[in-house]
Amino acid sequence: MKTIKAGIIGFGRMGGFYLEAMKKSGRWEAKTICELDESRHDEIKERNPGGTVTADEDAIFSDPEIEVVVLSALADSRLDQIRKAVKAGKHIIAEKPISDTVANEWEAVKAVEESPVRAAVNLYIRNSWYLQELADAIESGDLGELAIVRICHMTPGLSPGEGHEAEGPAFHDCGMHYVDAARYLAKGDYNTMRSQAVRMWAYKDPWWLQAQGTFDNGVVFDITQSHAYGQLSAEQTHNSYIDIIGSKGIARMHHDFKTAVVEIHGEHNTRRIERPYGGKNIGTMLDLMAESIESGKRVARLPSFRDSAIASEFAWKCLSDAAAHDLPVKGTPEELERIHERRRTMTEGYGLLRKQPHK
Ligand SMILES: NC(=O)c1ccc[n+]([C@@H]2O[C@H](COP(=O)([O-])OP(=O)(O)OC[C@H]3O[C@@H](n4cnc5c(N)ncnc54)[C@H](O)[C@@H]3O)[C@@H](O)[C@H]2O)c1
Repeated sequence: MKTIKAGIIGFGRMGGFYLEAMKKSGRWEAKTICELDESRHDEIKERNPGGTVTADEDAIFSDPEIEVVVLSALADSRLDQIRKAVKAGKHIIAEKPISDTVANEWEAVKAVEESPVRAAVNLYIRNSWYLQELADAIESGDLGELAIVRICHMTPGLSPGEGHEAEGPAFHDCGMHYVDAARYLAKGDYNTMRSQAVRMWAYKDPWWLQAQGTFDNGVVFDITQSHAYGQLSAEQTHNSYIDIIGSKGIARMHHDFKTAVVEIHGEHNTRRIERPYGGKNIGTMLDLMAESIESGKRVARLPSFRDSAIASEFAWKCLSDAAAHDLPVKGTPEELERIHERRRTMTEGYGLLRKQPHK
């Protein structure tokens, strides 16, 4: 089988995941990796001996052999790179968010929708087996009429002031995945919403937020996201689930980041499925993109730029709504300092900061 040659721009944690998934697939080849931090180039060469390394992204856009670009730097450079990819006729796999402001995200949507390139965004939950099982259970009718979608994702992950600060508070940076997943399951557009948040440790932005409301088809949602879940507990834990309530039955999922469990309690069928969690499902996204390129037709299941812009914009709206009414402060800046101190030296846990060199 002919391999698909790709260029990866931005070789941090996510860039590394793309490279490993490409090596594993046998269908992809990371021909060129662009990373601005040249101190990491030797490590990249070691990890991808057949490919080249550069700090100049144009080396990727001008290479006629490269069919697909993976945009895994940060959101502030993405719109320019998307425009260059469209101009050069290269298919795009982009990290979320697709740009740094809502207006730029819609510019990015416009750029790809008006071009023949195939584009997908790593809204990774869409590519998970457990979301598909839940969607199938709803579609089967065995739950009755879909009434409520509840999603909760709380971990002691990236804390305020760390990580992708420019990509927004936890409810945007991480929460947009759940905003997208709820919309995918409900098969509707967001309609009403109210949000409540808490400014944990007196940080300027909330680090716990719960939004609830309706879709235009009447399905009710509640989404809770936080990275303020036991940051200083002796033994950290998390709480992550999806809960679907129909007029006759229910379906739900929980995971521990290693294994995911889906339980379906329909009118006729009762099933329990336990399978490996699957992480960021990059392999699945690469397979779907490869299929889209080889068949000449975009696989509809691939999360689109439009899906990402909608999720990002709605996550910002939830944050604005929460800021417009009572936004309590709980905890102290001293506790946040202790959290930062602890996370700097943590080797096991949630949303760890990137160490160099990282494997
Ligand atoms: N889909 C998901 O589940 C998920 C999860 C985590 C992160 N992300 C997103 O992926 C992106 C990358 O996140 P990360 O955790 O890998 O970040 P990171 O900081 O580990 O890596 C970013 C890398 O890009 C490099 N870089 C920055 N600008 C560049 C440019 N113009 N050209 C080339 N290299 C450049 C940086 O030097 C760094 O090595 C972010 O936008 C983030 O929001 C998505």
